[in-house]
Amino acid sequence: MNTRVLTGITTTGTPHLGNWAGAIRPAIQASTQPGVDAFFFLADYHALIKCDDPARVARSRLEIAATWLAGGLDTDRATFYRQSDIPEIPELCWLLMCVTGKGLMNRAHAYKASVDQNTAKGVEADDGVTMGLFSYPVLMAADILMFNAHKVPVGRDQVQHIEMTRDIAQRFNHLYGREFFVLPDVVIEEEVATLPGLDGRKMSKSYNNTIPLFEGGARALRAAVSRIVTDSRQPGEAKDADSAHLFTIYRAFASQAESAQLRAQLADGMGWGDAKEALIQRLEQDIAPMRDRYDALISNPGRIEEILQAGAQKARKLAQPAIEALREAVGLRNLTSGPVQAAAGAKKAAKGARFVSFRDDDGSFRFRLLGADGNELLVSGSHADPKAAGALTKRLQQPGVAVVTLDGLAVVASLDGAEVARGAPAADAAAADAQAVQVQDALASLAQ
Ligand code: TRP
Repeated sequence: MNTRVLTGITTTGTPHLGNWAGAIRPAIQASTQPGVDAFFFLADYHALIKCDDPARVARSRLEIAATWLAGGLDTDRATFYRQSDIPEIPELCWLLMCVTGKGLMNRAHAYKASVDQNTAKGVEADDGVTMGLFSYPVLMAADILMFNAHKVPVGRDQVQHIEMTRDIAQRFNHLYGREFFVLPDVVIEEEVATLPGLDGRKMSKSYNNTIPLFEGGARALRAAVSRIVTDSRQPGEAKDADSAHLFTIYRAFASQAESAQLRAQLADGMGWGDAKEALIQRLEQDIAPMRDRYDALISNPGRIEEILQAGAQKARKLAQPAIEALREAVGLRNLTSGPVQAAAGAKKAAKGARFVSFRDDDGSFRFRLLGADGNELLVSGSHADPKAAGALTKRLQQPGVAVVTLDGLAVVASLDGAEVARGAPAADAAAADAQAVQVQDALASLAQ
């Protein structure tokens, strides 16, 4: 089977150079590789979480779609669609919501950041937090699991969401007794370094330091480049390419030979004005032909609409049978489809406690013990080796091997006298005792 690569872009803004070099260009490049099936989409339901300006969402959908197409995406090969054209995605989202622990969502960085900001401001923790924002990772899981993507290229800020997707997929697979979902892997492309903006920070709309990709044409591009911050060295003075973000941007577009040349010219005293001119020339070489295609597309939205509709049809050919099978699995069946044929073991599994492994932000491997209701009972320490973590879960499941104790109000599970996992502290001693019993029951139920 081909590798399915899937990624989406939230439609709230106008694409800038950083979006192009950091996300769209490498994705288009990946879609041309043999053995790859690419799924690229406009995350327009996600846009509603961040933006309640209909005109902006509408405009952004058009601009981002036109950017993918102008950039050369082959929509016969790749599947290119709008999230909101696939009703199976929100449907799957609901099925996933119903197996996702609220506690898992409480841990999401984006949500926690909102809570922290609110706390700092002295307002209520959930002030301004919508259910859309809170459950955003579940919608993202639905995007990914709908098409059983193997690889999901994203920025660093999204890694946790892919981990959560794996968590949710494992839980669904386990509850309903079959490998319905592939567990996706995150792809962080180290080579496509995040582009710095005019001021050297990451190029981002929120820092107001972007270089437009197509918007405003060649003039706007030139105007932005002229505002790139440099040091105060004069023409004739030697300049260090590596400490100039102007050079970092150049390098993201140029060949190695071209970069080496500019580096040497800077060392030789090229003035910043000339360096900016060189950057503009190099950018234009790539962007000018795309800009023509982009302008033509933007002025013909009907053509883009057609392409997206065709993409939606292609995507739904996969989504429809998949959601059918999932509805069947959870019991949403045609009443005439005969006696209830629960998937073998599904019922038993649904009642079971289980271990779920995950990868921590720091790259280490850990696991959780979840109770039958899906609540987290224990979390393990960190392990560099996933096998070491796996071996511990095996031993914990052997009858009578694990020792469960209380450390204050927290339940601790130990092997050979060493702690391997612990629970969150309970509210009081009675709750702590109850948790210890739950852990013992869970381990006993897992003992073969
Ligand atoms: N949340 C992603 C972002 O802000 C966009 C996105 C939505 C996405 N669904 C996705 C990315 C599924 C990858 C896969 O960047």
